[in-house]
Amino acid sequence: MENKLNRRAFVSVASMAGAGFTLGFPNISIASGIDTLKPAILGGPQAHSGMFPAWPVVSEIEEKAMSDVLQSKKWCRLGSNKVDNFETEYKKLTGAKHCLATSSGTSALYTLLGALDIGPGDEVIIPVYTFIATYNVVVLNYALPIFVDTDIESFQIDANKIEVAITKQTKVIMPVHIGGSPANLDKILEISRKTNIPVIEDACQAHLAEWRGKKVGNYGLAGAFSFQASKNLNSGEGGAIITNDEKLAQTCYSFHNQGQGGRVTGFNPGTGTRGTNMRLSEFQGNLLLAQMTRVVEQTNRRTENASYLTKLLNGIKGITTAKLYEGTTRSAYHLYMFRYDKNHFAGLSRTKFMDALTKEGVPCSNGYGMMNKNEYVTGLAKNKHYLRIYGEKTMNQWLERNQCPQNDLLTGEQSIWFFQNMLLGPRSDMDQIAEAILKIQKYAAEIG
Ligand SMILES: Cc1ncc(COP(=O)(O)O)c(C=O)c1O
Repeated sequence: MENKLNRRAFVSVASMAGAGFTLGFPNISIASGIDTLKPAILGGPQAHSGMFPAWPVVSEIEEKAMSDVLQSKKWCRLGSNKVDNFETEYKKLTGAKHCLATSSGTSALYTLLGALDIGPGDEVIIPVYTFIATYNVVVLNYALPIFVDTDIESFQIDANKIEVAITKQTKVIMPVHIGGSPANLDKILEISRKTNIPVIEDACQAHLAEWRGKKVGNYGLAGAFSFQASKNLNSGEGGAIITNDEKLAQTCYSFHNQGQGGRVTGFNPGTGTRGTNMRLSEFQGNLLLAQMTRVVEQTNRRTENASYLTKLLNGIKGITTAKLYEGTTRSAYHLYMFRYDKNHFAGLSRTKFMDALTKEGVPCSNGYGMMNKNEYVTGLAKNKHYLRIYGEKTMNQWLERNQCPQNDLLTGEQSIWFFQNMLLGPRSDMDQIAEAILKIQKYAAEIG
């Protein structure tokens, strides 16, 4: 699970005067004499002020969006049009034929599994390296979540390990585009075609990310997005489903609207046999329309800064940035993910490295952990409903099936994240992040 940020202990902006040093590749030379300066953790000046761009961005357009809905006195989507308008715009943005707004990313995934009538006895394949919501939506349907290990180089689901996880009970493959970078969709779709098992893309972190020039969420049967506060498109809470399958779109609409098909309140028979309330409010719909006026520009800014930062960090021994698969034409960079190797930092532990980085004014997190070993997850094997549905033997086998050694290695010692808002500032922020790491590397033995 995401760690709380430990940040913004700004003391003073470091003035890095003097001779620069080079990062081991041509044409990028980091300004100025930091080799003579100590890391902040040893009493030197911070490499960065700690003041990365605030998130979310708010202006008069959001104020107007809120007050328009307030004054209209139409706060529910039924019988009104703001959420409808948002769905139209999000369709245009993603190139999908259908879009359904939902109350959260979790409810987008839950609605999809509900519309596909996933239930007890079914298995759903998910990556182990993800936010807990990916797991929860499977368990809410009393289906069995089957973890697939992580490709340590990309932080994504290891698509080469999906096929062995498939059984007769497998009903859905649910890859996640973690950090906003696409999972290996070519390989995943090949397996889906071969086995006839549908793919639901958990694109909750991947707004505007692209695989081979097309927005993610369009590749599987459907994709789910989150607009929760930390996300690259934000309405506090919120979500959306995109799909190119009309029948599924209708069933999802009914499911998220208490099984009713109509656009106004009242009894309007829908599609499917299950339902609940997962509707987005008009406030959130209109807020999203306002936030969307900046989303393309912000995404471009993140892409530019992230590729520059990648060039800088790839020049530092012991730092390995997350690989993007060959089909990736755009990462959303919801998270900037990289691996840390203490052997190139005089044995300095990841915890101490992150502590030193934070003191430099550069917030970071070690990211997700070993979900498969988390007590909340292993406890499922003792859940009375699961024992009744699957029996003790199957639940014990389930625990055994959930081994993910690569993920253990990644999360136990190596993974580190920066956050999307850190990529929204000037390029000099990227220089200062790299400077911070180089300072720590130079003084690693002393820090340790
Ligand atoms: C990969 C992933 N899936 C699902 C979700 C759930 O989205 P929400 O928080 O909007 O319910 C999130 C949110 O963090 C996520 O990161």
